[in-house]
Amino acid sequence: MEVYLDNNATTMVDPKVYEEMKPFFCDIYGNPNSLHKFGAGTHPKMVEALDFLYEGINAADEDDIIITGNATESNNTVIKGIWVDKILNGDKNHIITSEVEHPAITAACKFLETQGVKVTYLPVNEEGILEASLVRDAITEETALVTIMWANNETGKIFPIKEIGLICKTTGVAFHSDATQAIGKFPVDVQECNLDYISFSAHKFHGPKGVGGLYVKKGSEVTPLLHGGEQMGGNRAGTVDVASMVGMGWAMHLATSTMALAYEKNHVSKLRDKLEAAILELPETIVIGGKENRTPNTTLISIRGVEGESMLWDLNQNGIGASTGSACASEDLEANPVMNAFGSDSELAHTGVRFSLSRFNTEEQIDYAIKVVQGAVKRLRGLSSSYAYAPESHKSAL
Ligand SMILES: Cc1ncc(COP(=O)(O)O)c(C=O)c1O
Repeated sequence: MEVYLDNNATTMVDPKVYEEMKPFFCDIYGNPNSLHKFGAGTHPKMVEALDFLYEGINAADEDDIIITGNATESNNTVIKGIWVDKILNGDKNHIITSEVEHPAITAACKFLETQGVKVTYLPVNEEGILEASLVRDAITEETALVTIMWANNETGKIFPIKEIGLICKTTGVAFHSDATQAIGKFPVDVQECNLDYISFSAHKFHGPKGVGGLYVKKGSEVTPLLHGGEQMGGNRAGTVDVASMVGMGWAMHLATSTMALAYEKNHVSKLRDKLEAAILELPETIVIGGKENRTPNTTLISIRGVEGESMLWDLNQNGIGASTGSACASEDLEANPVMNAFGSDSELAHTGVRFSLSRFNTEEQIDYAIKVVQGAVKRLRGLSSSYAYAPESHKSAL
């Protein structure tokens, strides 16, 4: 049996989304900016896609949604745009973020540091959550931007975006959230949370790869990363990939419907809990950060004496895809930065395995995965000298 449990890395394109995309390859292929009927033929479905995106995040009509290549591009557009607008051309010099952001935020911030910008990396608490009060305390007269992820890609932990939004509104600081792991997992409401910007990637919610979005509240500034044609109102030059944009719109529409979100909450979470409970029955296993305030589909489990990489190998041999960390970091064997942020010691930092489910997983698949994980833990612990001889300090250390 093949079981895909790595949906925080990417998801299968929903067959309905694929159907909606198909006409835009060989039939309706005109350039949307052309003045003839071939170009104009793309417009109705592009408008529909934008409507779906606005609805999915509750954007106001006057706000903007820029179609980008992915969340990485959206994040970079905001961070580097703020640098140009408020730091190079303004009087600010400070950005606030967290220690557990995706590299698409952290690496952009590190780059700005090389340019003299001050960046504050706020820690998470023992539950893996960033406390909003830390943001309030870190804001100074110099702060140009607060950028905090909505849900963590490793732990699934959901951050207090509404509270942080209020703090930013009151202090007049621009607020961006990387919502890549939030869309389709729980309701995302940009107005309720006073957000100026959010980023998302279609392939994380059963849309195609290579397309993403950047929400920009009316009045918030954007400096384009890509200059060229007048596409996206001049905010992101380059011919729009119509098929992908249509696919992203439909993926958003399907993933954020009331029914789909209820299914995530009530059904996907049950499958995740079943898998998790079975693993936790094994001795010296722990959910990193605990079970509260998580996206319904994710669990990050540390299994003492079992290297994450070895576990993935065993799972893969048995047709199961999971992860030890962010897909972008999975080829280097550095300890997972999110695990490090919990203060775990280096052995424990290497024992995390992330299972991330989707609406396409079945109970039969989860039952199979449970058997495989149990077998793999037995086998790998049998091989581990550190597990055989180390004192039972694992739980207290985490
Ligand atoms: C929280 C978060 N932000 C950004 C990204 C980057 O997404 P993409 O590779 O589609 O740009 C990811 C991907 O794992 C993510 O999980």
